[in-house]
Amino acid sequence: PFEVQLGRDGRVVAVPAGCSVVQALAAAGVALMTSCEQGVCGTCLTGVLDGEPDHRDSYLTPEEQAANDQFTPCCSRARSPRLVLDL
Ligand code: FES
Repeated sequence: PFEVQLGRDGRVVAVPAGCSVVQALAAAGVALMTSCEQGVCGTCLTGVLDGEPDHRDSYLTPEEQAANDQFTPCCSRARSPRLVLDL
């Protein structure tokens, strides 16, 4: 489990094990655009302001993943306890 924080209003949303970031945000009333939900299409791509994503997509290049400034919340998770998102 980890948390995501919305960069704009500071709201913190917990992401339990077995729940995607997209699902956790939807439950908190924040709807993201998704399509494949498997890390392939990049539709859900979201900016990361702070924290370290655990990239599980096959959309970003290894270089883009290593930059840690964006991630795919439909399938990727976090290595740090909290991710601050550009939302
Ligand atoms: Fe396709 Fe997230 S919805 S990469």
